[in-house]
Amino acid sequence: MRTHVVIVGAGPAGLMLGRLLELAGVNTVILERRSGQYVLGRIRAGVLEQGSVALMDRAEAGERLHAEGLLHHGVELSFDGDRHRIDFNALIGRHVMVYGQTEVTRDLMAVRQATTIYEAEDVELHDFDGKPWVTYRKDGVTHRIDCDFIAGCDGYHGVSRASVPEAALTTFERIYPFGWLGVLVDKPPVADELIYAHHARGFALCSQRSNTRSRYYVQVPADERVENWSDDRFWDELRARLNPETAAHLQTGPSIEKSIAPLRSFVAEPLRFGRLFLAGDAAHIVPPTGAKGLNLALGDVAALADALIEAVLENSTAGIDAYSTTALKRIWKAERFSWWMTSLLHTFPETGAFGRRIQRAEFDYLTGSLAAQQSLAENYTGLPD
Ligand code: FAD
Ligand code: DHB
Repeated sequence: MRTHVVIVGAGPAGLMLGRLLELAGVNTVILERRSGQYVLGRIRAGVLEQGSVALMDRAEAGERLHAEGLLHHGVELSFDGDRHRIDFNALIGRHVMVYGQTEVTRDLMAVRQATTIYEAEDVELHDFDGKPWVTYRKDGVTHRIDCDFIAGCDGYHGVSRASVPEAALTTFERIYPFGWLGVLVDKPPVADELIYAHHARGFALCSQRSNTRSRYYVQVPADERVENWSDDRFWDELRARLNPETAAHLQTGPSIEKSIAPLRSFVAEPLRFGRLFLAGDAAHIVPPTGAKGLNLALGDVAALADALIEAVLENSTAGIDAYSTTALKRIWKAERFSWWMTSLLHTFPETGAFGRRIQRAEFDYLTGSLAAQQSLAENYTGLPD
């Protein structure tokens, strides 16, 4: 088989890239290690920037999002129970959309016309410095696809970045000593907007998926096990970290999903190796505090799609030559913001009482300074390229 672009991974990055390319007339095959059902079962991000919503429209996949997504014009920050609303609309005239990654993935799957091969095992990348080809195994048979370009959209643990010789890659990493324990529940959200809460017991986040489904997180030690957390223990811990008035409004119920995600900052440079490009979590990870991971992945593939369309249809390398440098500037800004939100809101065992006083001063500065609030609002709702 031959195609213009083989895309490895059918998460949001791979599916969006595939869709933008097929709409432009560029041929693609997506290879995904898991089944479609498995991919849809992963509960992850929940907040879309305006640029991501516009991209869903460009992909002609925005219909349900506009009908069911919830527009949010601000978020609440809480520090030891003291509350402050960051009003995106008043500060900078922008907003975000609450719409789950699962739904983004489902909508992109539904519109895709070209081939996606699920349960493709042992994907291997060959000769991406010359004439690239990719092999995979399906139902015990090995297949080969020749192509012009390979897009590695296969997440942090994927094969694409791992196929690059170590000497060609520089990586930057920070692993945080904690994770997020998340619970999904079919109960109305505790508040209209998201609440990001710092507390001496640790960070907590009140998020949502719809008017009847909520998503809550609490900071837990990195080595914590989900089996140690009954629903009752989770709800007690969440209440303890919220403002008492908010806690009193919390509607609890049996969890329909419960999992722990580790927190990490990671960037691999560059993003291009001959005819192989990395995008999304394959290239970088942010801690989830700033709600940037999914948005960053979609930003990468928007740029990569334009570059590949130019290369395949117009035989111009300007876009693919610029991709890595341009994308990394945007990525590092999101890394900085995610690191900053994480540093402000979590408890860090190693920084002690001094660290907590600095965090309190940062919160007081933020709530007293319009400039600081504008900076948060700009970053949270999405910086321009
Ligand atoms: P992925 O969604 O990881 O998709 C990569 C795809 O490639 C997967 O379907 C995978 O099965 C496939 N793949 C992997 N290896 C291979 C292979 N060898 N061959 C073929 N296919 C392969 N972000 C937020 O903003 N908020 C959150 O709350 C949040 N929570 C998260 C929780 C977890 C547990 C994780 C892992 C991430 C979370 N994120 C969150 C980050 C966000 O979900 C990601 O940034 C986003 O999924 C990136 O999309 P992607 O398409 O680049 O990667
Ligand atoms: C969600 C996750 C985040 O990391 C975040 O900052 C906001 C919302 C969520 O899963 O809903």
